Amino acid sequence: MTDPAPWWKTAVVYQIYPRSFADSNGDGIGDLRGIIDRLDHLQWLGVDAIWLSPFYPSPMADFGYDVSDYCDVDPVFGNLDDFDALVDACHTRGLRVVIDWVPNHTSDQHPWFQASRSSKDDPKRDWYVWRPRNPDGSPPNNWVTSWSEDGAPAWTIDPVTDEWYLHLFLPQQPDLNWRNPGVVEAMHDVLRFWLDRGVDGFRMDVIHLIGKAEDLADDPEEFLPLPHVVLNHEPSCLPLVEGIRSVLDEYDGDRMMVGEIGLLDTSMVADYYVDGRGMQLAFNFPPLYAPWDTLFWRPNIDAVATHIEPKGWPAWVLGNHDNPRQATRYGSEERSRAAAFLLLGLRGTPFLYAGEELGLADAEVPAERVVDPGGRDGCRAPIPWDSSDDHGWGPDPWLPWPPEIDLRNVAAQVDDPASIANLYRRLLAARRSSAALQVGSQAMLDSPDSVLGWDRAEGPERFRFLVNLGPDEADVSSLVNGWEVLVDSLETDHGPAPDTVLSADHAMLLRPAAG
Ligand code: NOJ
Repeated sequence: MTDPAPWWKTAVVYQIYPRSFADSNGDGIGDLRGIIDRLDHLQWLGVDAIWLSPFYPSPMADFGYDVSDYCDVDPVFGNLDDFDALVDACHTRGLRVVIDWVPNHTSDQHPWFQASRSSKDDPKRDWYVWRPRNPDGSPPNNWVTSWSEDGAPAWTIDPVTDEWYLHLFLPQQPDLNWRNPGVVEAMHDVLRFWLDRGVDGFRMDVIHLIGKAEDLADDPEEFLPLPHVVLNHEPSCLPLVEGIRSVLDEYDGDRMMVGEIGLLDTSMVADYYVDGRGMQLAFNFPPLYAPWDTLFWRPNIDAVATHIEPKGWPAWVLGNHDNPRQATRYGSEERSRAAAFLLLGLRGTPFLYAGEELGLADAEVPAERVVDPGGRDGCRAPIPWDSSDDHGWGPDPWLPWPPEIDLRNVAAQVDDPASIANLYRRLLAARRSSAALQVGSQAMLDSPDSVLGWDRAEGPERFRFLVNLGPDEADVSSLVNGWEVLVDSLETDHGPAPDTVLSADHAMLLRPAAG
């Protein structure tokens, strides 16, 4: 008998951005108790695990991705007792808990950086990346920081010692120096702190950045002003990843790490699996950036099969707290519905961003309410829980509401069998009850240009997916003969016989026809 698949291969992981998910104390900012209060929704939906974006103490220059203490909870989200209660509540319901770990940089308010900046002789000086001034005043290299429209340098002079420090993101997020063994040890201990508290895994923020070329060589001119974040593919990262994995392997229970690999090339993303000794999962972003067109989707799916499959288990992500939501990117509810079949149907572990199951679009954020330096407020709008005046929140949430709130709130969608939330629920239920849909093989089909078609199979079980990404109807008669409809993207109660013509943006999950 073969071993059962580890939980992270069969699971669907639901991403919670704590500030925006649920507010238990009415201060307008989501918190850990709020999440506990809303776990019923996740069980109703049928996901298997949650990933929590950072909830650590932070000055919030990057809303928690600037950590000032890795081993505590920011008071705005609660405290460690609340965290323990959340882990217990999830585990009692059979939900796994994955937390964010931010290894590339700390906040500039972290005591490590405060010590490091204090003097060139401080024992923690080398925990960050410092370089002296050049005689001509130029920064140490041509690396560009993130979210800079004008190619601003990834370096800032610190007045205390009059030297440059590296920050691939905001100046308030100095990069740690992973060449220093003290950093490696301290960050491994952070993992142990949370593993001891029972977490099932980590989403590792921009993990591909922790290895940096020893000479910090310039980026090739032709790539500028792309930020260094999408260019840093450095072999010295891989042994560091192996070291991190060995910490997880000290614990029983299949503790999992999923790497955020911000590179634009799937063959590079595959390297971070380190042939079974590295990440168990790696985010591969090209499908998230792909327009709604098979011209882009086909090569992206092929690239996963060619590059990821031989090295590890794929992860699929079509939305997160850094990118416009699917409804905003793709432009219609029909497409958001069809995208659910891609996310949940392609072979690999899906990561579903909270609110995608409601078909939320980005909020319109007027200039005076913009708070994120990276322009990502729209996709971080609060989750509306019901149609009441405050939608289950305090009177004044930290960001404006997303559009169509009376239609796109949890209570309204749970009650409406035709809602996108109920569509997600049907797909998740189908997936949960079938090894073929969770871990089965995948074979792409010959299909009309605008249609993506693939089969999933395991033992005697078989399923077929058809998704039309085109603006016109497509003839799929040759692909539906002998099959019946299990889930239809547009109809709640489709009869068993599939349509031979797939309308624009229409998707179907089929199973072999009975008899
Ligand atoms: C990626 C995270 O997803 C993003 O929100 C954050 O701003 C950067 N990493 C920096 O930590």
